[in-house]
Amino acid sequence: MVKITETVLRDAHQSLIATRMTTEQMLPIVESLDRIGYHALEAWGGATFDASLRFLNEDPWDRLRKIKAKAKKTPLQMLLRGQNILGYKHYADDVVDYFVQKAIANGMDIIRIFDALNDPRNIERAMKACLKEGGHAQGCICYTISPYHNQDIFVRDAKRLEEMGASSICIKDMAGLLLPYEAYRLVKALKENVSVPIELHTHYTSGCGSMTYLKAIEAGVDIIDCAISPFAMGTSQPPTEPIVAALAGTEYDTGLDLKALSEIADYFRPIREEYIQSGQLDPKMLGVDINALIYQVPGGMLSNLVSQLKQANAMDRYDEVLKEVPRVRADLGYPPLVTPSSQIVGSQAVLNVLSGERYKMVTKETKGIVKGEYGATPAPISEEIKNLILKGEEPITCRPADLLAPELDKIRQEITQYIEQEEDVLTYALFPQQALAFFRKRQAAKYGLDASEADFEAKIHPV
Ligand code: CO
Repeated sequence: MVKITETVLRDAHQSLIATRMTTEQMLPIVESLDRIGYHALEAWGGATFDASLRFLNEDPWDRLRKIKAKAKKTPLQMLLRGQNILGYKHYADDVVDYFVQKAIANGMDIIRIFDALNDPRNIERAMKACLKEGGHAQGCICYTISPYHNQDIFVRDAKRLEEMGASSICIKDMAGLLLPYEAYRLVKALKENVSVPIELHTHYTSGCGSMTYLKAIEAGVDIIDCAISPFAMGTSQPPTEPIVAALAGTEYDTGLDLKALSEIADYFRPIREEYIQSGQLDPKMLGVDINALIYQVPGGMLSNLVSQLKQANAMDRYDEVLKEVPRVRADLGYPPLVTPSSQIVGSQAVLNVLSGERYKMVTKETKGIVKGEYGATPAPISEEIKNLILKGEEPITCRPADLLAPELDKIRQEITQYIEQEEDVLTYALFPQQALAFFRKRQAAKYGLDASEADFEAKIHPV
């Protein structure tokens, strides 16, 4: 029997409509989703936290509690960027511990933890915290293709995660690069070498996702990530219903009811239509993008390169930049191309081409990778590149967060006047600017004031 994790409440709308689905759009269907019998509902984390605050004026913690109140049976799952939590930098251990504690206290069951460089030291703290709070800690291997990466490396990475205490392992194919027969070989090798359940996460970008799942299933994968059809395919996950239909009556039967799934699809179809009408769901995102396979880079990265070149009025250099991307990636130790490494490699490739000399100009982030500030790169970086970019500065070899002092107390002091719930401290720790704007609007609404008034602070917090 194969289990299915439904991603419509997180990755599906993050991938198709820039994470804009609101809590209000989710809640009416959560009880029905809960009755389906999914392995889990991925409903939080990733970019949802940032997007709730920044674009929707929603408290992400409130969303979690509301979903949990209606999903009483099905475990809730979230995506966590290891030591980066849900942000874009490394946080001190006390913030990681407290975040995980509060996520579980507010209803999270399964925490999927990854690191952009597959450096297990960046995953370990969050994993330990999750296990301590009684959560299911899933460790990820970010799947990528490079001259360095092969099956043995991925098996070694998975074994390391299992030794660290991972409750299950996820093959995270964020760029949709994993092809069916390779998936078969990889899952087989993992099943032979690790004993915890294996889950496969892919994106439909190249059009191969469902085939990849089928071969992974034949190789013994335990869980696959799917999205209900109106929010599936394109840059999102393979659709749930066809997989359920394809496996029905076989030894892999998911046991899920197609009619019940069809009712879920009926609910989401008009919502999808709304996003198409408003222009937020670009039909281009729904097609097959084979460039992702040809250049072995995520679709989003290609469109970023195009827009950077257009800005510089240098679209004629596109082919050169495409050739430069794998060279930069090799120089930087073959990082998987996922946030933030995809942006770092892309921007540096553009600079290398446009400036006429490789590494004549170096971004702060490229230097950070070479310096070890993101952790250890998969393959070592050559002395030549280190000298060229660090110009004599010593790289760090410890876990980056070992250099960070505890930060929670200081953070709490900065916003005491805004705290309405303990979780606010974490919201502010992750996204100070957005959190502050959100807290001000929240207080303004409470007191019937306008947060943009010059004397707003004085009215709310008279000295
Ligand atoms: Co994904």
